[in-house]
Amino acid sequence: MFAIEELDRYVENGLAALNFRIEPKELYQPIEYMISIGGKRLRPELCLLTYNLFSDKIEKPILYPALALEIFHGFTLIHDDIMDQAELRRGQQTVYRKWDNNIAILSGDVMSIKAYELLANCPGNVLPQVLALFSKTAAQVCEGQQYDMNFENIPYITMKDYISMISLKTAVLIACSAKMGALIAGADEKVAQALYDFGYDLGIAFQIQDDLFDTFGQGNVFGKKIGGDILNNKKTWLLVESFKVADNRQREELDAIMAMGEDQGEEKIARMQQMYNTLGIKESATKSIMEYYNSALEIINKIDFTPAQMEQLQRFADKLIKRIK
Ligand code: IPE
Ligand code: IPE
Ligand code: MG
Ligand code: MG
Ligand code: MG
Repeated sequence: MFAIEELDRYVENGLAALNFRIEPKELYQPIEYMISIGGKRLRPELCLLTYNLFSDKIEKPILYPALALEIFHGFTLIHDDIMDQAELRRGQQTVYRKWDNNIAILSGDVMSIKAYELLANCPGNVLPQVLALFSKTAAQVCEGQQYDMNFENIPYITMKDYISMISLKTAVLIACSAKMGALIAGADEKVAQALYDFGYDLGIAFQIQDDLFDTFGQGNVFGKKIGGDILNNKKTWLLVESFKVADNRQREELDAIMAMGEDQGEEKIARMQQMYNTLGIKESATKSIMEYYNSALEIINKIDFTPAQMEQLQRFADKLIKRIK
């Protein structure tokens, strides 16, 4: 089994070897840019990691499908930044700000197509299954993104609605990454499904963490504008939980903050942060993140993994939970 850092090296080298220095440059340069400005590479890393639980032979049939996950993810980020009107991504200007909307739309589109091209390198015997999994997941991500946008214009949603939205926009792609590695390695369905469920719960924890960092992270480390979710009236874990625990007066304050416009952006962010502090939301979010993390580990504990396999999965989960960006 490889160390996680070695798996990361496969990912970085693999991405660097993909050739996007082609014409028309307006279409391909943004892709090159998106890849070169970094990112945690969590999805391809997880895909290689679950594959590597069963096999050390890291070649095209696993590497390219793993890279497909990152390219697909990059596409969702480029389009997400248009939808969320975000200025910053990975500490750099977002694609639609650096170029324009049309460029961001089409570069994103071609990335999603490239993802399928890469995916098609998986072993022929599992191709139908891998393709079905990936296609279902990709559609779910779009569904989640639509719910996320719909929720901007709804004053309150339940925690159940929130979890179902983030399952779609975020958790299923991480789950798919974990399962794909296992399928390509030829693992049996029960094990592959357990790895899916493991990735899914980690994915939920991951998005709650992302919501937390969006409001309370370190801007220069997180690489996105702090307070962006507040400005967009996003129904984040923090906001949904706040409405659950607030008294009537506090709910009025939450409503008043949400009614504030763009012209009062900085004050809106500051007042919402203060409200979250009053309600102890940071602590309750951290608790919820740990619950999903524990649940992920419980799932794989039920499978007969060897101690070495368990340790590797645990390392991945720990790395995810300890992240600061
Ligand atoms: C950002 O994903 C979108 C979410 C699902 C929260 P990442 O946090 O994995 O972004 P990068 O790839 O590391 O930039
Ligand atoms: C994005 O959720 C999920 C996808 C891109 C599919 P967010 O909108 O919270 O992601 P960030 O915070 O911009 O990375
Ligand atoms: Mg979004
Ligand atoms: Mg966003
Ligand atoms: Mg976010």
